[in-house]
Amino acid sequence: MRLVFLGAPGVGKGTQADRVTAQFGWPKVSTGDLLREAVRKQTELGIEAKKSMDAGKLVPDTVVIGMVREKLAEPGCQNGFVLDGFPRTVPQAEELQRLLHARGLNIDRVINFRVSREDVIRRLSGRRSCPQCQSVFHLDFAPPKVSGQCDRCGTALVQRSDDKPETIEARLKVYDEQTAPLIAYYQTKGLLSDLDGSGEMAAVYGRLSAVLLGLGAQ
Ligand code: AP5
Repeated sequence: MRLVFLGAPGVGKGTQADRVTAQFGWPKVSTGDLLREAVRKQTELGIEAKKSMDAGKLVPDTVVIGMVREKLAEPGCQNGFVLDGFPRTVPQAEELQRLLHARGLNIDRVINFRVSREDVIRRLSGRRSCPQCQSVFHLDFAPPKVSGQCDRCGTALVQRSDDKPETIEARLKVYDEQTAPLIAYYQTKGLLSDLDGSGEMAAVYGRLSAVLLGLGAQ
């Protein structure tokens, strides 16, 4: 199944995408993770992208579209994928459609995660991430077994530079202006399912997997 996860920063798209990958096997394709990996490796693209990311702004469409095009051509993505954080603008969505249509494919469903602003800010402010393997934790809702240390690889956890209060505010504004129009865009195409993203992670996943099973996911 080819899925798009849509929603404001911090609604839990990445967390839920990991669970979908674990249950159904479709790989998560997160443009945020791909960009952070490029920043970590200090590639030319990463050095350039970091300026936009630290300011809470979007990286230029051409850059992310190129990354996604490469990723979706990989063998692991041929039986489905979960796009997390892409598309984020109408031009990105149009390009995604062109890209898939050229191969006779389409998006099966767009899941629009809905969470209150208050919860989103609480989730983002308490998030701690592993700079090495990109595992995600939360100080209160998903704490690591050993404080400050990644459960998976033992690396010291960090707060993402864009999870500081002033950058969170900028990212939410960018979401409202540039990404929220995708809700109507996909609604018009009959592809959108709204999902209540509030409450515990397992409860959200229960609602999400019910939607996916209802669509025939196996
Ligand atoms: P990206 O990494 O995609 O950031 P985002 O969309 O802002 O999303 P987040 O990763 O912040 O949140 P999420 O919804 O995945 O939440 P998570 O599961 O982690 O992008 C970063 C930057 O890269 C952008 O600002 C931009 O500059 C650039 N970029 C990326 N894609 C781009 C694109 N397509 N075009 C242009 N630029 C692009 O959860 C958040 C926290 O909450 C975690 O701590 C988690 O443990 C916790 N949590 C999750 N679910 C629950 C729950 N149910 N209850 C309690 N806590 C929860």
